[in-house]
Amino acid sequence: MLPEGARADEAVPRLREIGMRKNLLVGSAVSYRELQQPAFTNLLEEQASIVVPENEMKWQIIHPEPDRYDFTRGDALVTFAQEHGQKVRGHNLCWHNQLPRWFGEMATPQNAADLLRQHIAKVAGHYAGRIHSWDVVNEAVRVEDGRPDGLRNSQWLQLLGPDYIGIAYRAAAQADPKALLTYNDYDIEQDGAKFDAKRAAVLHLLQRMREQQIPIQALGLQSHLHAAPELPDWTALHRFMEAVEKLGLDIFVTELDINDSKLTGDPGERDQMVAEWYGSYLRNVLQHRSVKAVLTWGLTDHDSWLNSPNQRHTDRPLRPLPFDADLKPKPAFYAMVKAISEAPARA
Ligand code: G3I
Repeated sequence: MLPEGARADEAVPRLREIGMRKNLLVGSAVSYRELQQPAFTNLLEEQASIVVPENEMKWQIIHPEPDRYDFTRGDALVTFAQEHGQKVRGHNLCWHNQLPRWFGEMATPQNAADLLRQHIAKVAGHYAGRIHSWDVVNEAVRVEDGRPDGLRNSQWLQLLGPDYIGIAYRAAAQADPKALLTYNDYDIEQDGAKFDAKRAAVLHLLQRMREQQIPIQALGLQSHLHAAPELPDWTALHRFMEAVEKLGLDIFVTELDINDSKLTGDPGERDQMVAEWYGSYLRNVLQHRSVKAVLTWGLTDHDSWLNSPNQRHTDRPLRPLPFDADLKPKPAFYAMVKAISEAPARA
């Protein structure tokens, strides 16, 4: 059965072209493994005007030893993107996760700022001029950690205190003055107390960064959404986005996927509900002309992080992305086509 909105005699629409008419970049995260598969790269070339490496620019992979950087995998994606007229997001320069083992053994409060500055100078310097936007600091807020400022009690915070954030952004601005420096985080989008608290803490962080004149141009809404039978009304998200816009920041949807583990019904029914979530979310966020890019976290369900063995908490494969394991478009894809086609054009 063809998904709703699709016709048998019709070629699959191209999101990158539909987005271009709205001045909206559209794309997805890509792993190095996927980049070796021609069927996948054909689809990526057709659909994406922007890509982001899923893991390949993280510390663990790009900086495997104290004095050794390995740009092989990151370069492969940047080269592919340049050959196909796509922009590249950099992900990421400072995160508590996927740090190499040597870092834990070597970092001290005395040397951590230098290690951070050197890493950013080297990595952002290597890609300077070729990156649309860098996730400079990723996921620095964790309300559950109980600090009044909402910051995550990460290794970076323990080593350097809250100053690590300014250190990272200033180093990134120096290494690549052209990239849009982004703060990227999750659990910002949906309704409920947990999300309200996260939104407040992220806004507080962004306001402090502005006060301290830390260079930042954009917020990344990761958008790892959890589908439920009821759609959110997104009012709190709209208010939050308006507050972010008042700070003069652009907004990127950086890691969209929709977890269907709580939905019941057969795969067809779950796909319809996931598509409704895609449509509703994108219709709402794209009302904001500050949203300049939409990226999903992967293109196909088969390769989604949500289906990796250490993530999946149900015994059935999840169906969170716009294409199925055979690279066929799902209802979620057509919901993206519709929402982007109907969105107001960006400046
Ligand atoms: O490459 C090694 C492999 O050599 C080893 O044998 C294997 C055994 O565990 O691990 C492999 O590394 C895995 C890596 O993905 C590459 O596949 C890591 O274990 C695994 O933890 C890692 O997961 C990634 C995760 O970030 C790490 O935190 C996911 O692929 C990636 O999708 C996910 O992406 C994050 C964003 O960066 C930030 N926002 C949330 C998002 C989803 O968690």
